[in-house]
Amino acid sequence: MVKVVICGAAGGIGQPLSLLLKQSDLISHLALFDVVNAPGVAADLSHINTRSKVTGHGKEAMSEALKDAHTVVIPAGVPRKPGMSRDDLFKINAGIIRDLAEGVANNCPNAFVLVISNPVNSTVPIVCEVLKKHGVFNPKKVFGISTLDVVRSSRFVSEVNPAVDPSTRVTVVGGHSGVTIVPLLSQIPGGFVDGLSEEKLGELTHRIQYGGDEVVKAKDGAGSATLSMAYAGARFTLKLLEATVAGKSGLVESSYVNLDADVEHTAEFKSKTGLDYFAQDVEFGTEGVSKIIPLPEVSAYEKKLLEAAIPELKINIAKGASFITDSA
Ligand code: NAD
Ligand code: LMR
Repeated sequence: MVKVVICGAAGGIGQPLSLLLKQSDLISHLALFDVVNAPGVAADLSHINTRSKVTGHGKEAMSEALKDAHTVVIPAGVPRKPGMSRDDLFKINAGIIRDLAEGVANNCPNAFVLVISNPVNSTVPIVCEVLKKHGVFNPKKVFGISTLDVVRSSRFVSEVNPAVDPSTRVTVVGGHSGVTIVPLLSQIPGGFVDGLSEEKLGELTHRIQYGGDEVVKAKDGAGSATLSMAYAGARFTLKLLEATVAGKSGLVESSYVNLDADVEHTAEFKSKTGLDYFAQDVEFGTEGVSKIIPLPEVSAYEKKLLEAAIPELKINIAKGASFITDSA
């Protein structure tokens, strides 16, 4: 039974995510932090008759919210509007994430930090660099949430071939934006890709890579994915809690992590690609990352996708890291 903090809890993702986490018996205290409306959302949720206590914390109370947290989930920041890339959010969200990471370093330096705010490819390096600056960085404990790409892949694959159950796990690697999202559809059991034309494979891959844009366009200026993200965020958070609090083993989710979290399985990949961060299937243990599962044998088509993803990821990572390392 642990304290979980949601930063950005009154937002489009924050509210349904808090609702989903309120249902977990692994959480004893759900602390909702936001610069607006946190007390209202907390009062509402606190009437639900599950075990956890719910508290709301406004603008001036970040430290109080974060104090002694076991896990901090961060969906704080601005979402996209049509025509924007995730990288366009950097200008505003980088500073928000930096300040929240400072709060983590000062109030709950041992917490697991789960980053939802975009651009994830850059916001995760920001968190890691802030924690390094404070001497409290543990690469096994910082996660970029790319689960929505996996959730979408499973759904879209089942739409293309109804014989594939929508709960079928799809491995998605790389990062969380456009070409950096690399679904490894060749890994789906039952020869799924063998039944697809080259054109269909291209269309499906593109839909997965740009699934976020579908929602941004449909919401027409009112934001990006919130409900599907809350589902994905809760799935990730609860799995991590099952491993770290309840001690369950063998639980796996894809996550965008610092590759030093598991040097044994990433050293070769790191030196070959020059990447410090990458989304890959991660097995959870009581300390967070217990194993980064090495990339499987990929198809020639997926190899090309990876080649396109790597240079873009490097730019995104450098942008996030230097936002902290280049500041005084
Ligand atoms: P939103 O605008 O509805 O909610 C964001 C909330 O953050 C607001 O309530 C706002 O008050 C709060 N906030 C702003 N600055 C804050 C600060 N300094 N401290 C605490 N709270 C603060 O946006 P949303 O739709 O919930 O999206 C949030 C973020 O999540 C966006 O950056 C979006 O791009 C990202 N996102 C990521 C994924 C993913 O797959 N990782 C999916 C969807 C959205
Ligand atoms: C998503 O994939 O839905 C999120 O990253 C939000 C966005 O901007 O598309």
